[in-house]
Amino acid sequence: MAAKPNLSLLFLLALMPMVVVMAQQNRRQQNLTHIHFYVHDTLSGPNPTTVRVVEGPMKLLETNLNFGDIFVFDDPLTEGPNPTSKLLGRAYGSYIFASQSTTKPMLLLTVNIVLMDGQYDGSTFSIVASDASFVQVVEMPIVGGTGRFRMARGYAHSKTYWYNTTTYDGIYEVDAYLLHFVI
Ligand SMILES: *[C@@H]1O[C@H](CO)[C@@H](O)[C@H](O)[C@H]1NC(C)=O
Ligand SMILES: *[C@@H]1O[C@H](CO)[C@@H](O)[C@H](O)[C@H]1NC(C)=O
Repeated sequence: MAAKPNLSLLFLLALMPMVVVMAQQNRRQQNLTHIHFYVHDTLSGPNPTTVRVVEGPMKLLETNLNFGDIFVFDDPLTEGPNPTSKLLGRAYGSYIFASQSTTKPMLLLTVNIVLMDGQYDGSTFSIVASDASFVQVVEMPIVGGTGRFRMARGYAHSKTYWYNTTTYDGIYEVDAYLLHFVI
């Protein structure tokens, strides 16, 4: 009787190249990077970094803010809380007053963080988040990145360092944690 080829062995051999490719991908190192900075969001004075571009029709309580308002910002990011401390990058984005609640305003925040310092110069990451101004620490998902942060995912925590309830000017302390491939 002729020996029958062992089909399961052939099948395994056929799979080998695929297994090797997968193992190589798994070996690719991922790093968790922590980035800390302060955001300076200025609406008042002669040089605002945030401007309202759309005024919504529905007033929110006794404020001059409305459901549907859209603000666009180009905010500096610094190493320390002082606006004159070392510039690390800029935050470009917009926020929309997206909830009708008068007690719990909820913003839709879309922002690209562009870093301009040291080893991260030119690298970016992007945030799409619900920003609730009434919570102590806002958690925001990081949905992608470029350069050092290619394929990044992660989260950022934002805390109010200083806020003026009249002008809405604010300084926010941000801790971002990014999981990304080592490039
Ligand atoms: C990756 O993270 C490890 C541990 O924090 C660190 O030693 C290493 O320098 C990092 N590699 C790169 C390329 O950032
Ligand atoms: C907030 O801004 C107003 C208007 O510029 C100013 O009069 C007030 O002193 C500021 N408050 C704080 C806490 O900085």
